[in-house]
Amino acid sequence: MKIRRYAQYLNTVKDVITSPDIRRLEKYDQHMGTSRLSHSVNVSYKSYRLASLLGWNAPAAARAGLMHDMFYYNFKEVGFTAREHCRIHPQIALYNARQSFDISPLESDIISAHMWLAAGKRPKYKEGYLVTMVDKYCAAEEFFKGIFKKIRR
Ligand SMILES: [Fe+2]
Ligand SMILES: [Fe+2]
Repeated sequence: MKIRRYAQYLNTVKDVITSPDIRRLEKYDQHMGTSRLSHSVNVSYKSYRLASLLGWNAPAAARAGLMHDMFYYNFKEVGFTAREHCRIHPQIALYNARQSFDISPLESDIISAHMWLAAGKRPKYKEGYLVTMVDKYCAAEEFFKGIFKKIRR
């Protein structure tokens, strides 16, 4: 059952998850030792599952989940403050996603509004609310996993 779910998910995001522009995210660290690629897959898969259970647009949630943090820098290295980074990176991710893929207005909105509550605009669609909440959940999960890993060492 689980294997069938993974297969359906992979089939939905095949073109995105295999793209070199998404694979490049592996090189960047996100949330205490998780790569940006792992974080994006985590957000994408959980959003896909929840949207499927709710009967919402699961492919759009899955695809935008993979693209939502499509930026290729570490914010401290480029001189952004944390606040500036929170506000700016959804727009950079949207720009990069448009360069690499054909994306729908729903997917665009999910990407550009994923920092809602921390910074930026409110999502226009229910799938956007779902992805922004899943993103926050995954960030917290990854952060605490990273902390516990450090403590155990
Ligand atoms: Fe983000
Ligand atoms: Fe994220």
